[in-house]
Amino acid sequence: MINPKQRPRRLRTSKSVRDLVQETQVTANDLIYPLFIKEGESSKEAIKSMPGIYRWGLDSILGEVESATKLGIKAIALFPVIDPSLKDETAKEALNPDGLTQRAIQTIKQHFPETLLVTDIALDPYTSHGHDGLLRDGKIINDETVEILAKMAVVQAQAGSDIVAPSDMMDGRVTAIRAALDQASCQDTLIMSYTAKYASCLYGPFRDALGSLGSEAQSSKQGPEDKKTYQMNPANSIEALKELELDLDEGADIVMVKPASWYLDIISKFKAHSNRPVAAYQVSGEYSMIHAAAQAGYIDLEKAIQESLTSIKRAGADLILTYFAKDIKH
Ligand code: PBG
Repeated sequence: MINPKQRPRRLRTSKSVRDLVQETQVTANDLIYPLFIKEGESSKEAIKSMPGIYRWGLDSILGEVESATKLGIKAIALFPVIDPSLKDETAKEALNPDGLTQRAIQTIKQHFPETLLVTDIALDPYTSHGHDGLLRDGKIINDETVEILAKMAVVQAQAGSDIVAPSDMMDGRVTAIRAALDQASCQDTLIMSYTAKYASCLYGPFRDALGSLGSEAQSSKQGPEDKKTYQMNPANSIEALKELELDLDEGADIVMVKPASWYLDIISKFKAHSNRPVAAYQVSGEYSMIHAAAQAGYIDLEKAIQESLTSIKRAGADLILTYFAKDIKH
């Protein structure tokens, strides 16, 4: 016998009713659009493993920022492709006030002062071995790396970055970065910490785009060939809560889970335990898998974009970094 009080289907009878009771909406306000930047005049370079994503020269990036801004996207994250001749063991190019990231910040800010710029704090674009930290005797040296990361944050903030985003997973870096920023009178610069960043296979296309660890361009085989001594084990979630506790205590303004789709449980736990906004990064591999399946005709691209982002937001993300930022229904 059907219980007359229990007909949940009534709320699904028409599109209007469904729209009216929809709990989760993804809008341009929630999104951060990652862009790869490079030196050189040639305007843009396709990335083979990421259809529709380019490495932008500073001459052409303004057009891309403009088209994103017109869609209502408020924030852009920059990832530099550094010329191999500038990479070394000490990552010194990371601190160059005239380095690629710093020039990109200045160029974009000049034309789009309202657009929030998020810049990456980690050494991997700058080290010859492609690790996020300094490497000595096959080991990643935490504390010396943190000193460089703190200086790097100041260089970026002074160039005009609004949000610095440590993606390196060294211990204690948020404390060091906050102290260095405050010392340099950059109290308003936000820290978005990659709090639970997992050692994931899903970063493959990104490393291809940058020519960093594990990519074809990265030939050096020094040190660990993966990032498992600093990025987290995908099997762990209690550890993610430990990292969350530390980052909240150290003063992160926004805490992040990365990747997103295979880590929705972690996003949900972060939302329950954090009094600060939770970000999720739908990473390169998530982007490329959806594209590949769509290209093969197995899934519908637009529906997959919408559903994947809605799921990430429903799980508890307040904001989402996604290469699909321009492709959502605006
Ligand atoms: C490195 C960094 C990575 C990503 C962002 N910053 C890759 C890595 O840890 O090797 C991945 C982003 C993506 O896959 O889209 N600091």
